Amino acid sequence: MVRDDLGLTGTKEGCGEGECGACSVLLGGRLVNSCIVPVGSVEGLTVDTIEAVRETPTGQSLVQRFAEEGAVQCGFCIPGMIMAGYALIREKGGQTDAEIREGISGNLCRCTGYDRIVAATRAAFRDEDRRRG
Ligand code: FES
Ligand code: FES
Repeated sequence: MVRDDLGLTGTKEGCGEGECGACSVLLGGRLVNSCIVPVGSVEGLTVDTIEAVRETPTGQSLVQRFAEEGAVQCGFCIPGMIMAGYALIREKGGQTDAEIREGISGNLCRCTGYDRIVAATRAAFRDEDRRRG
């Protein structure tokens, strides 16, 4: 629906079964795999996609850090990875590598490997700390 009806093609469809995280969005501020969310449960809640998140300071920081760290190869998983990183940062869900790996554990990348993705997310956490002073 997000892609076909609303034209928001940053959100990807990978497995379609809630296993890969490519379809990640924020529903009422909470990270979800949109492919397994029944439409009826969305009523009254905000839905934030990568198109909105990448315009925020936190989202811009994540996009920049992913590029700098070389964390992007085919790019298919990256919107979902950035959504997961954004949710972690906004919720202050953890800054250690182990906490970041746990936070993105629902998102699969078949190309890059996770070290660069974790490094990029860690750098974006530091950017956020500087912004918040
Ligand atoms: S497409 Fe939704 S989790 Fe894979
Ligand atoms: S960069 Fe290709 S799947 Fe992650």
